[in-house]
Amino acid sequence: MCGIIGYIGNRDIIPILIEGLKRLEYRGYDSAGIAVLEKGRISLRRAEGKIALLEKLIKQKPVSGSAGLGHTRWATHGRPSEENAHPHRDCTGTIVIVHNGIVENYLELKEKLKKKGHRFRSETDTEIIAHLIEEQYCSGAAFRRTNSLEQAVRRALKEIRGSYALGIISSKEPGRIIAARSGSPLIIGLGKGENFIASDVPAILAHTRRIIYLNDGEFAVLTREGVDITKADGRKIIGKELDGRITAVAWKAGAAEKEGYRHFMLKEIHEQPRAIEDTIRGRISPDKAEVHLEELDLSTQKIKSIDRIIITACGTSWHAGLIGEYMLEDLVRIPVEVENAAEFRYRNPIIEKNTLVIAISQSGETADTLGAIREVREKNGTVVSICNVVGSTISRESDAVIYTHAGPEIGVASTKAFTTQLTVLYLLAIYMGKIRGFIRDAQARELIAELLKVPGIVKRMLGEEGKIIKLAEKFRKKTNFLYLGRGEGFPVALEGALKLKEVSYIHAEGYPAAEMKHGPIALIDKNMPAVVLALKGRRYDKILSNIEEIKARGGEVIALASEGDKELKKKADEVLYVPRTCVQLSPVLAVIPLQLLAYYIAVKRGCNPDQPRHLAKSVTVE
Ligand code: AGP
Repeated sequence: MCGIIGYIGNRDIIPILIEGLKRLEYRGYDSAGIAVLEKGRISLRRAEGKIALLEKLIKQKPVSGSAGLGHTRWATHGRPSEENAHPHRDCTGTIVIVHNGIVENYLELKEKLKKKGHRFRSETDTEIIAHLIEEQYCSGAAFRRTNSLEQAVRRALKEIRGSYALGIISSKEPGRIIAARSGSPLIIGLGKGENFIASDVPAILAHTRRIIYLNDGEFAVLTREGVDITKADGRKIIGKELDGRITAVAWKAGAAEKEGYRHFMLKEIHEQPRAIEDTIRGRISPDKAEVHLEELDLSTQKIKSIDRIIITACGTSWHAGLIGEYMLEDLVRIPVEVENAAEFRYRNPIIEKNTLVIAISQSGETADTLGAIREVREKNGTVVSICNVVGSTISRESDAVIYTHAGPEIGVASTKAFTTQLTVLYLLAIYMGKIRGFIRDAQARELIAELLKVPGIVKRMLGEEGKIIKLAEKFRKKTNFLYLGRGEGFPVALEGALKLKEVSYIHAEGYPAAEMKHGPIALIDKNMPAVVLALKGRRYDKILSNIEEIKARGGEVIALASEGDKELKKKADEVLYVPRTCVQLSPVLAVIPLQLLAYYIAVKRGCNPDQPRHLAKSVTVE
């Protein structure tokens, strides 16, 4: 949950580090710092708070150089403060590191190092890594045998339990950056006479599109001339194999910028038509009523043998899984269970030969979801992941991965990732339903035709946000909300509630509407508005009764209604219309007004939807 960047080249490093850190602020932003190699020593500049405060500090105390590291922090050990900000150094200040992850055994290591005379400046787990390296570099056996920073780092890392993405420099070996990863994302950017490390692509996209995703256990040594990568087993990756690891990033330079929108969240809500189109692209032949999912590297025979599907994820991705359950059970006729990854991973789950596990993760780095798939792999289960980040850890540890092509999702609140996850689940349901004989060509044509309309419908919906902005003004001072739905509407209610609470800090609960009589109706009064998903469908009459029950108790109702429904206007205080589509795709449309409502209420309450308090974009620790 932190952002790392490193540079070694011939240009002035300060703007490269600062601009890169700004692109990584979504990964954590409670403190930040840089370390720069200059005139044979390493200078640190660190500040609590946002990157802008670090920038101000550097203006007051200039530093210059052409090699160094930067870090933006999300605190896991030690409160946000200057002394806990990265980079951290060893006793002598000649070895400096930046770290993303958690050292689970740091207390025992810290005690051991203290006994050897090491003095610590911070409360962090990270700092002990710098001292472990120093122990190996300056006084350990490594000094006499290898006297290399690389060797000292390797030895030090053997003592660590936990996760890390690391950048290391030393004034004793100024011409190189050492990088290592285990459990936290780290990429290498290849330039001409310069090279980079970063936690994520947006940090260095302005400088290079040639990226190598480090795998767990891998190690890299960067110089101005090039990069050496060593696999976990100690084997160097060279020649064609190294070339094969280079990914050309297609994202436009602006893709990770706001492009005129006030916040990334709003930009990404408005990107959904394009993101859904891109996710469909190349995966359907409408004329042949076919869905192509080559990346789903499972044989027809395997797909026919699946007798149980488990979907596992966290947060918004878990909500997508709950909707996927309806799609898959409707169209593929296989029993589906949806499991919160943090619960599933520790439950000693039963995984059989014909169980298919689908892991959904935008970042592909969520610790609990990664833990869940590792548990499944331990039990020889089959894992297919739905991810948005190419080369992310979850995608690389799955048997197969189907990528959402949403582009970088920078806003902490997940929006376009959610609707593109639903798009992939829908495509998967058609694909598997056809193979298993539950979907004939005629129905497949209809389902595909409905999907092809969705981007245009979403675009039209986004053009009508004026009504939602007015609603946001009317409801922005509320302190509680209920979100209610039935069937596929229930997970959408959960998602709408999550969006509101995570960006506006208003308490909001998603509930099955049928549950009202079992308790929540006691909450209803004029201060407890209810957002009710009341689209035409199998449960429409029942949801109308729920609305009447709420109105009878003085509650206010914002109803999401199917276009053309005049009935609801008489019953609800406010109505937001949702265009019609097939029942399986209705959540993709219904969520749009809820995303916008959450965004505009947050902005009207003076919140920053892109960096909500206490949250980070990617939860890479438990
Ligand atoms: C959603 O708006 C939140 N940011 C959060 O719940 C998120 O969906 C969750 O942390 C899972 O992230 P992932 O999809 O990257 O695994």
